[in-house]
Amino acid sequence: MPKQCDYLIYNVQIATMLDGSEPYGTIENGCVAIDNGSIIYVGEMDNCEVTPLTKFDGGGNWLLPGFVDCHTHLVYAGDRANEFEMRLNGQSYQQIAEQGGGIKSTVNATRKASPEALLASAIARATALIHEGVSTLEVKSGYGLDLDTEIKMLQVANTLGTELPLNIRTTYLGAHALPLEYAGDPEGYIDFVCHQVMPKVSELSLADSVDVFCESIGFSPAQCERVFKTAKNLGLNVKAHVEQLSDLKGAKLACDYHALSVDHIEYLTSEDVVYLKQSNTVAVLLPGAFYFLKETQKPPIEALRAQQVPMAVATDLNPGSSPIASILTCANMACVLFELTPEEALKGITVHAAKALGLDDRGIIKAGCRADLCLWDISHPAQLVYGINQYNPIKRWFGGQLV
Ligand code: NIG
Ligand code: FE
Repeated sequence: MPKQCDYLIYNVQIATMLDGSEPYGTIENGCVAIDNGSIIYVGEMDNCEVTPLTKFDGGGNWLLPGFVDCHTHLVYAGDRANEFEMRLNGQSYQQIAEQGGGIKSTVNATRKASPEALLASAIARATALIHEGVSTLEVKSGYGLDLDTEIKMLQVANTLGTELPLNIRTTYLGAHALPLEYAGDPEGYIDFVCHQVMPKVSELSLADSVDVFCESIGFSPAQCERVFKTAKNLGLNVKAHVEQLSDLKGAKLACDYHALSVDHIEYLTSEDVVYLKQSNTVAVLLPGAFYFLKETQKPPIEALRAQQVPMAVATDLNPGSSPIASILTCANMACVLFELTPEEALKGITVHAAKALGLDDRGIIKAGCRADLCLWDISHPAQLVYGINQYNPIKRWFGGQLV
């Protein structure tokens, strides 16, 4: 064990979220030594022999990894409260989309918005997540669809990471909806996505991954496959919105391209879960969208569990299907609506969410990981997913710094 370090958090119960004999990977009476922004030691206080420059007494409270929200669309302009009313008056999400509303209405508003206005509203939403303990956030584009607005969105998303104590991962979601200028020509639009936007996004290093909406109101599997091929050629990771409203076998296709994650997956069949297992792909559950769209088809949780496919949980924060800026509410929904256990739900917003972003240096409390940590005044980790809007961290460390 290293003898000296910058910082020591001691007198804490630690939910490391590592697999082991204890639920939540718990270490009672623990301590965490931090040096240069990283965790260098985790263990019981009795065995801790480091000499820190600064010590912090955790007062017996619970220390958890910072949360990871691995699927959001939180850079956008406007709102869709009118569509909420339309749905409550009997129209479906699909019908609204087919009439030119839905994603396209947010595209209109986002194209018109200045980068400053987009950033201000994104900061407000991201701040709500930070106050609940989120320290890594994925943000998708996809409300611009033209080159300039997609770049504007991705730049705004990346700026969040310089303005706030947050690590940002960005995803280019060009194949989200067919923009008006390509009406009737989805192949032409996919050409544009693959030949004009993706090379530019890659050249400017604006995104880590590429995502698609594989659905009748989105893009066909063949069109999505063209996007995946281009992404792979450019060295970008693949993610996919699949099987949200119907079973187009999008998950199998995404797994053929070693997708980091397949997201939504309510209509994924139990048989097709094997493809996720084979390709080491994370199943991202988005119970907020399931709830908000009043869906009834649930993802194949039992099969995912049986195959030991890692399940992540995310907010899907967006104006149309999941206007929910609360990761813990979504973790609660994953338990109540999808029957995850509280431990599965907490793994879903920590270790498995990190894996859905291709990251193995966070979401767990372990030597070598980033020191993104939150201290909670709770008696048990399950409390965090049981209560709604009741808990906020009493202390937060981002890269080892108290924020
Ligand atoms: O994850 N499914 C596609 N995209 C978003 C919704 C976008 C919207 O309705 O604005 C989702 O649910
Ligand atoms: Fe989404």
